[in-house]
Amino acid sequence: MTVSPVTLKNTKLGQDLLISPPTLGLRGRIRVPGDKSISHRALMLGAIAHGETQIQGLLLGDDPRSTVACFRAMGVKISDLESHTVVVQGVGIDHLQEPSDILNAGNSGTTLRLMLGLLAAQPGKFFTITGDQSLRSRPMMRVIQPLQQMGACIWHRRNGLAPMAVQGQPLQPIHYSSPIASAQVKSCILLAGLLTAGQTTVTEPTLSRDHSERMLQAFGAQLTIDPDTCSVTVSGPAQLQGQSVVVPGDISSAAFWLVAAAILPDSDLVVENVGVNPTRTGILEVLTMMDAHIEFMNQRTVAGEPVADLRIRYRTDAPLKACRIGGDLIPRLVDEIPILSVAAIFAKGVTVIEDAAELRVKESDRLAVMATQLTQMGAIVRENPDGLEITGSRDLKAAELDSHGDHRIAMSLAIAALRARGCTTIHQAEAATVSYPDFFSTLSNLTKF
Ligand code: S3P
Repeated sequence: MTVSPVTLKNTKLGQDLLISPPTLGLRGRIRVPGDKSISHRALMLGAIAHGETQIQGLLLGDDPRSTVACFRAMGVKISDLESHTVVVQGVGIDHLQEPSDILNAGNSGTTLRLMLGLLAAQPGKFFTITGDQSLRSRPMMRVIQPLQQMGACIWHRRNGLAPMAVQGQPLQPIHYSSPIASAQVKSCILLAGLLTAGQTTVTEPTLSRDHSERMLQAFGAQLTIDPDTCSVTVSGPAQLQGQSVVVPGDISSAAFWLVAAAILPDSDLVVENVGVNPTRTGILEVLTMMDAHIEFMNQRTVAGEPVADLRIRYRTDAPLKACRIGGDLIPRLVDEIPILSVAAIFAKGVTVIEDAAELRVKESDRLAVMATQLTQMGAIVRENPDGLEITGSRDLKAAELDSHGDHRIAMSLAIAALRARGCTTIHQAEAATVSYPDFFSTLSNLTKF
């Protein structure tokens, strides 16, 4: 009989994950849950379209559930989430109802920031919005300020923190040059622009994920995209028509398995049905730069998004190589930096991650948390204001770690623990349910002594 090296234990403060290194590599074929960014957008565009939107492969993590709860509270009918196809009955672009209670975006920055663009442009309706402790400490001025330039009426705590209140207004179109490459900022303004007469343009310094642009076009919005200047223009007011959306597997969730297979001897793993939109594949480029053995198989397009099966094999012939990660690459792998820093520990040389200060305002301060947690495991990690320097080829030792309530930290540390001597404990491991509810059962199925 084989025993799994993974155990989850309930405690007063959440769940502890106890994890020991397996003696065998990761082998077989797996699927990861639906893409989180695409799931939010399918729900939101479905809610404001005319007619029905059918969604297959919706991520049933805590974050999209927060989006569902907010839109249900505004009168949108969304069918049972556990069914194969989730159906959203669109109410039309300016027919969201004023909710009778505070909208709660939970841990989800995407829910709060994108929804704000829609709410600010619903004339005559008043909304209050909050989130969990992490979300209430994350910067919202980045969306409040351009919305205010459009004439939005928003009240907030000091420095633009939630909770906030919005009095919906007719807005004016603007041309907004965003100082940061952020898909949440871009999408917020485009959604506000859908309800605003005229041309609303967003320009970003480098291209961030373009799922909003692809899906808005599929739902019938008029967009002009200029890739040379990283600009998108939406013409409003727009009429959207409900669509059928098939959500591909999330490359940000696949990333944990790709790195696990690259660092665990004897691994040969296929992750099927992964979204490989070029604005998200920075992780694959970096793993290839590090000399990992990755193959794209069965490439196809599903509902306007490129999809592939990814095979990754542990290299017995050569170790991974350190590399430099920065510049335009950052927005294309922004959520994968925690797990890439785990890969860097097993690479020869010093991996430098730079231009990544944005990580300090994610679900946790991911640079600080990864640096302290990996250091406790014996890694050599230097924390810089905008990144990390990780000296590779280190053996890790088991330690008592904490996810700080951040889903991607919980999962990244679990993968690091697969290569640590002894039994590692990760506190607040349940945070993984934000984006990957089955992560620990998949980990348990894949790892064997
Ligand atoms: C997201 C955009 C990214 C990413 C987040 C999801 C989205 O954030 O980190 O997990 O769905 O638009 P930023 O837009 O803040 O870079």
